[in-house]
Amino acid sequence: MTHPAPDPWRDILAFHLEAGVDVALDEAPVDRFAQSAADAARARAAPSPAQISAPAQKPAAAQEPAPPRNLAAPAGAPRVTRHEPATPPAAAALITQPPDAAVMTAREAARGAASLDELRAIMEGFEGCALKRTASRLVFADGNPAAKVMFVGEAPGREEDQQGLPFVGRSGRLLDLMMAAIGLDRTRAYIANVIPWRPPGNRTPTPQETAVCLPFITRQIELANPDILVCLGGPSAQALLATSEGITKLRGRFLPYETGSRSIRAIATFHPAYLLRTPIGKRLAWRDMLAVEAALGGA
Ligand code: URA
Repeated sequence: MTHPAPDPWRDILAFHLEAGVDVALDEAPVDRFAQSAADAARARAAPSPAQISAPAQKPAAAQEPAPPRNLAAPAGAPRVTRHEPATPPAAAALITQPPDAAVMTAREAARGAASLDELRAIMEGFEGCALKRTASRLVFADGNPAAKVMFVGEAPGREEDQQGLPFVGRSGRLLDLMMAAIGLDRTRAYIANVIPWRPPGNRTPTPQETAVCLPFITRQIELANPDILVCLGGPSAQALLATSEGITKLRGRFLPYETGSRSIRAIATFHPAYLLRTPIGKRLAWRDMLAVEAALGGA
């Protein structure tokens, strides 16, 4: 038997993929070890405070405004598949608001949106969530905002980040099948996420990131005004239903959800990504979808 010749580059790429590094953030690699060594050397050479008589001039690069971010396609525009390089992670340092202030700013900004289009524009301009700096673009929503049912997932993955649309990867394909099983498709459902920017490497969003993004998704739900809200997975259910209960206990029962304008019915079910890993859960998810279908019949 012959074995393929070892290829260290392929192995390094495979290692990165397994570690969740699946998107290039910049055109060229950045040697962060060399950067920190240079920073440390600069700090050692810097004059002591007593020696400073005038404010130090910032390096030119630090004074330059952040490069403009890619704008997500307006509603109704064709799907975007081009992947623009994202702002390098160093730009995260530009976010200066302390966490609690960012939550307050998000709340105020979201409250100011009178329509979904306005909300989207406000979120495009929001700088209080560091995830925006590493994501390629905002993933706002897909489907029909006038639909009776709204599905809300956790956060975009790689395909969603590239296309600017929620649930377009493997879990999205399963979600489409789950919806089709009860006669729904993206013209008859509205789809969004609690977190609208992809966490790097698909890591779990931090509680802080969820807290900052929560005012936006709750306003989005209020403005879309569905009759039925379906939380996909534990993190979505816990964030939207303000509970710490696990998805296994939470799923399958309708709970009241206050949109701010009225009370609607919310139900949690397993996340399609979980169902891909744990197909035995599909039996219960099927039950939940039937409950959604029945509720829509009566809505
Ligand atoms: N998982 C989510 O929670 N949302 C998406 O949009 C895609 C995968």
